[in-house]
Amino acid sequence: MIEKDKTYVVMGLLDCDSIAYAIGQVVEQWGGNVIYTVQNERMKRIFFDRNKKWAQEDKDRLNVKYCDVTVEEEVKQLFEDIGPVAGVTHSIAYANPKTCLGPEFHTDAYDDLKMGFHISAASLATVTKYAQTQMSEGGSVVTLSFESRLAFAYYNWMGVNKAALEATVRALARRHGKDLLRINAVSSGPVTTKAAGAIHGFDELGKTWNKVSPLPWDQEKDKIEVANAAAFLMGPYSKKISGQVLYVDGGASIIGGELLPHERA
Ligand SMILES: NC(=O)c1ccc[n+]([C@@H]2O[C@H](COP(=O)([O-])OP(=O)(O)OC[C@H]3O[C@@H](n4cnc5c(N)ncnc54)[C@H](O)[C@@H]3O)[C@@H](O)[C@H]2O)c1
Repeated sequence: MIEKDKTYVVMGLLDCDSIAYAIGQVVEQWGGNVIYTVQNERMKRIFFDRNKKWAQEDKDRLNVKYCDVTVEEEVKQLFEDIGPVAGVTHSIAYANPKTCLGPEFHTDAYDDLKMGFHISAASLATVTKYAQTQMSEGGSVVTLSFESRLAFAYYNWMGVNKAALEATVRALARRHGKDLLRINAVSSGPVTTKAAGAIHGFDELGKTWNKVSPLPWDQEKDKIEVANAAAFLMGPYSKKISGQVLYVDGGASIIGGELLPHERA
């Protein structure tokens, strides 16, 4: 599923609950080398401080670099420093929860909207542009989305950003086909992470999933299924897949209305 001994960059590590961490674990299991990125040096320190139970050798084993995706120079430097890569996952999003998520959709916090769009959608293009410099024989870029065709309560402007992210995936897939680069998204069902915790009503979303997902959906355990799909899209078995959104959501995205009692697991 992953090319052994090749290097894969997994961007968006915050803690061991991050989807990025699960993706890195899967890549390692298949024999790939993983370089994680965190947003900045302070977060790198926090990441290692929080994991006090880890032995020093576990900490030394993890290759963690920092990169703020809104700072073009840092993205450029990251890829200049690391050498050839086979795949990159962009597992990054942010929108100010006070102004962009919550009970009211309308906002006049335009700077927050711009920042949310820059981090959550436009940065995929920045990452792809510089990742390409280390993918001379082609490669794969994957990002993480959430069902953007529907309007969910509280998700507000992040929903808008996810729609923009998926449009960016298609535009990049068109632009970089000639470079043998594939760009795809995994649209995940709700999983428990720090970013998810910042969304008001996230628990409601989880309950909704139980009513609409034909397959049972576990917010804790199914993170690994999302990671498996991201690894598949980064690896060699998806060589002719590009510009797609792969739903790893228990099937919830194809259901009209709620499942009836006799249809539930
Ligand atoms: N958790 C879910 O239910 C869920 C569902 C679907 C999609 N997703 C998406 O998965 C991705 C990863 O989120 P997660 O749930 O693992 O949460 P997370 O909080 O662990 O990860 C989000 C990451 O984005 C990083 N980030 C924010 N601003 C950044 C910047 N300027 N530069 C670099 N990094 C920055 C954070 O530091 C963090 O590491 C996000 O795109 C999220 O929208 C999550």
